[in-house]
Amino acid sequence: MHHIHHTRITNRHLLAALAGAAALLGMAPASAQVDPNRFVDTFERAFGKFDGFRRSGAKGICAVGEFIGSADGRALSVASAFSGQPVPVVVRFSVGGANPKAPDNARSQRNLALQFNLPGGETWQMGNISAPVFGAATPEQFLGRLESLIPDPETKRPNPDKVKAFADANPEVLLQGRHFASQPVPASFGQVNYWGVHAFAFVDGSGKKQFGKWIFEPVGGTQGLSDDEAKAKGGDFLFDDLRQRVAAGGVAFDFNLQLAQPGDRIDSAVTPLPDDRKKVTLGRLTIKSVAADATGPCLAITYNPIVLPRGVEPSADPMLAARAAPYAVGLGRRLGEGPKQ
Ligand code: HEM
Repeated sequence: MHHIHHTRITNRHLLAALAGAAALLGMAPASAQVDPNRFVDTFERAFGKFDGFRRSGAKGICAVGEFIGSADGRALSVASAFSGQPVPVVVRFSVGGANPKAPDNARSQRNLALQFNLPGGETWQMGNISAPVFGAATPEQFLGRLESLIPDPETKRPNPDKVKAFADANPEVLLQGRHFASQPVPASFGQVNYWGVHAFAFVDGSGKKQFGKWIFEPVGGTQGLSDDEAKAKGGDFLFDDLRQRVAAGGVAFDFNLQLAQPGDRIDSAVTPLPDDRKKVTLGRLTIKSVAADATGPCLAITYNPIVLPRGVEPSADPMLAARAAPYAVGLGRRLGEGPKQ
């Protein structure tokens, strides 16, 4: 008892000292974060461990893109991404989940991860998803949701009572699934919308900040499959479909920003901005080439969404800050195992 008490005081002093150091450095105070190893462990327990693969978005493919910023982008932010000069982008498309054999013909998540390689060695990384909301509002809630999905050792399936109890107490975790259930199976990686989900601030030359949430919208519009078409396509069509479309010059996205107004929630990945908010096009991303399976420049990187260029700043969304450390842990594990996709 005495020993535990002593440890607690020591930890508290340590945390206070760290917070003080962070304040001196002008950093946000260290909030109580979920341990990143615990996050990745829980992914593995809930969804299985597939050596060498990403613990989320495991089934994926590298591509190379080019981004050209617009005048509207330049007006909102000094970020060099919007200069109007072509910017090379390391792209990764993926299917949601930890299973590298996840079927392409399910009503599930698709992802678009981007690394803009900007002049002067700056980079901008992001991982966007095919839903306007994420599956949890806070890191603690996300961890709880993952824990509720860990298979029961006897049935090898999640315990439905546990899943229900957690979801009943945390209704936000059901919003994303409802979106996917309402949408058809995407016909192509190039024909679905990808949302950034978090708000970010765009900072102009006078220092003025405009918060917004972005969406990458396919230039040719979205396209879904009927249930019969999805069945006929089978579980593995997205990579070849992407190669064919890119070879024909047909995969491009507008990088659109929905502008927040005063009073809008800009700290929540489960609360979209109101539909009627003005949208501006910050530029266009064109996919130039697709790598052979299991190769390419995206293999050994992780897309950490707080790696931002000068001119773009994070919002206070707690889910955003919580992503950096688990992504680094995930990268470390799969590099150690030999990266596969
Ligand atoms: C605390 C919350 C989160 C945790 C712990 C988490 C964890 C992870 C991990 C471990 C990976 C694999 C990283 C790698 O091996 O490179 C990953 C990938 C990914 N996550 Fe998250 N994630 C979180 C929140 C989010 C949110 C809010 C979004 C919504 C935009 C998101 C979108 C993605 C995407 C698109 C990928 C695949 C990126 C790629 O292709 O490399 N994640 N996540």
